[in-house]
Amino acid sequence: MPAVAVIGAQWGDEGKGKVVDILAEHADVVVRFQGGNNAGHTLVVGDETTIVHLIPSGVLQGKPCVIGNGVVVDPWVLIEERDALRARGFLADDDQLKISDRAHLILPYHRAIDVARETMRGGAAIGTTGRGIGPTYEDKMARDGIRFADLLDEQTFPDMLRDAVERKNRYLTELLGGTAIPFDNVLDDCLRVRDALAVHVIDSSVFLDKALASGRRVLFEGGQGTMLDVDHGTYPFVTSSNTVSGAISTGAGVAPDRIGTVVGMCKAYTTRVGAGPFPTELLDEDGARLQKDGSEFGATTGRPRRCGWFDAVVVRQAARLNGLHGLAVTKLDVLTGFEKIRVCTAYELDGKRIDSFPAGRAAVERVRPVYEELPGWSEQLDRARSLDDLPKNARRYVQALEDLTGVPSFLVSVGARRRETILLRNPFAS
Ligand code: IMP
Repeated sequence: MPAVAVIGAQWGDEGKGKVVDILAEHADVVVRFQGGNNAGHTLVVGDETTIVHLIPSGVLQGKPCVIGNGVVVDPWVLIEERDALRARGFLADDDQLKISDRAHLILPYHRAIDVARETMRGGAAIGTTGRGIGPTYEDKMARDGIRFADLLDEQTFPDMLRDAVERKNRYLTELLGGTAIPFDNVLDDCLRVRDALAVHVIDSSVFLDKALASGRRVLFEGGQGTMLDVDHGTYPFVTSSNTVSGAISTGAGVAPDRIGTVVGMCKAYTTRVGAGPFPTELLDEDGARLQKDGSEFGATTGRPRRCGWFDAVVVRQAARLNGLHGLAVTKLDVLTGFEKIRVCTAYELDGKRIDSFPAGRAAVERVRPVYEELPGWSEQLDRARSLDDLPKNARRYVQALEDLTGVPSFLVSVGARRRETILLRNPFAS
């Protein structure tokens, strides 16, 4: 299959970075199509840990990386990330990083609005990453955003920016009680950004069309997860983009029929950062244990992640919405040592059993997970390289996840390192 997508099947942080890094070895181009530097992928290569927020994780495999039009880009973060990667020998060639000319810029006022609005929400805060993601997508939809193509237009850019800064400052100071952003500083900073990034800006839809037409293998890397999708997630506790596979078409400018195999990423249990519903959340010592053994702290904000049992309702939802062909199950090793492991098979809502996630905010708060209990195992898993190397109960657990979600496993991860992986099916070959 020339095009493969890796999509989060839960609330993000499923371990996409590691899996994209592994699959990127087989790809010719790696593409991000939504989100921004709210994503954070931790990559462990050898003894070095690298966290990338904006540049596709495939960068460590030396593959050309594309930031599609659907991504919102904080150019200062991008420059910092690019330069840090360059210092380690990656992205040596300017051609290896491509940014869509239609991608929207996250500007200082977006970050200021994000933070001021969360402060204003108080107890009802969404728990955003504070990176200005939401306000930038709002401007995009309000047809008030600034794109890379605008930044490169020397004639019109200064006036466009002045107009935007004036309006946003009014909103920031008069409605949100924030501090105004000085226009001259923003303009100077933007002009420096233009000099630093202009060389990477292209029409990425045209580039990807040519790449696919010539049989090059393209890997699409999702950010966040299905339950954070602005339409299909736990609204309003979601991110502000569509995170499902359908967003590849709009966010990378690639027609739906070009997308081949879709891999859904899920942990062997569930986590979420930020506020919002989480039916299988564990507030007891089992939850604390998952958090500690799984090192469950956000790659972007360092916040502790909430932890709970595997929720098959959520992953079935992801299978339906994304058209999942296979699962990549991560962190199976973290479950080692639990005598019994629970898996949520359905919910109970007001005395009735339901199989899909309800939309209503109040209803979601009332759902109760229906659990099935499976026997645990005590053996370490990090040396397993095939399913046969796993203890019987771990194999049985993986099988249960497949049966409950209706999706076969393509990959099972048993440790943070690249080699600590059971690769059952290479999606580029299927
Ligand atoms: P925003 O994307 O910064 O607007 O944050 C909205 C919600 O999405 C918050 O609950 C964040 O914690 C969550 N979120 C955003 N990006 C990620 C991610 O990459 N992993 C997990 N949660 C995320």
